[in-house]
Amino acid sequence: MIITLVYITISTLILIKVFLVLLMYVCLCLGVTDTQIKAAVDNGAHTMKQLTSELKIGSQCGKCCQCSKSILNDKLVQIAETEAFVA
Ligand code: FES
Repeated sequence: MIITLVYITISTLILIKVFLVLLMYVCLCLGVTDTQIKAAVDNGAHTMKQLTSELKIGSQCGKCCQCSKSILNDKLVQIAETEAFVA
């Protein structure tokens, strides 16, 4: 009985950690995740102005702007590397 409870607790903690790693909230004011930002970049938002227009990032407190910009830059580099690899 105790072993089962310990197993369930450990399994739950592992699932929560995996969920938090996969889903990172960047903008807490508006509930925007890194996945949403990456999808917006894939769909053509290649500047912070375009990201702000599409997802309203930074339109409240602005604390998410630096992290959003970092994700945007990483994604743009990834896209550029993929295109260079294809060409
Ligand atoms: S955290 Fe994004 S506007 Fe506040």
